[in-house]
Amino acid sequence: MTGPAGGLGADGAGRPSSDVLSVSLDTVRLFLHILAATVWVGGQITLAGLVPGLRALSPDAPRAAARRFNRIAWPAFAVLVLTGMWNVAAARPGDNLPWDVTLAVKLVVVAVSGIAALLHSHSRSTAGLAVFGALSAAGALGAVFLGVMLAGS
Ligand code: HEM
Repeated sequence: MTGPAGGLGADGAGRPSSDVLSVSLDTVRLFLHILAATVWVGGQITLAGLVPGLRALSPDAPRAAARRFNRIAWPAFAVLVLTGMWNVAAARPGDNLPWDVTLAVKLVVVAVSGIAALLHSHSRSTAGLAVFGALSAAGALGAVFLGVMLAGS
């Protein structure tokens, strides 16, 4: 509570104040990055969970669902790369080697996730589908973990 009756009020110096944090460009930047991450990562996990049920409906259903998912997932991946570059420009602390090394590791796992997803969608064998699918999801989870480390440092 900042004002006499809550809600909008004034601080001790007479400046207007509010109970709600303000929205900034950083909010928009991180919102877009995290939204795209939820689609890329959450979509892969959800699709993996749906595959057995889809296969029971029809042997072609998992591939059809994966094709539709790709139309959402790749734009999300593009948003991740674009907002990721925006993150680096806006949030990179100068002269912080551990941050830079963590970012470099993150870029490797992002590349692993993207390349494995590409190989997964072109794979015809069950082993290829399983290995590249798992690799893409593992890379994506790694990117989330390292992203949280970067943002929290
Ligand atoms: C699979 C792709 C990616 C995923 C899943 C991902 C996920 C995330 C997540 C969850 C965060 C944490 C945000 C927070 O806690 O507020 C984050 C932060 C960050 N990401 Fe990514 N990211 C991806 C790609 C990229 C790329 C390609 C770059 C660089 C080109 C990048 C650079 C960053 C940076 C610098 C931060 C810290 C931002 C800050 O401190 O404000 N990310 N990422």
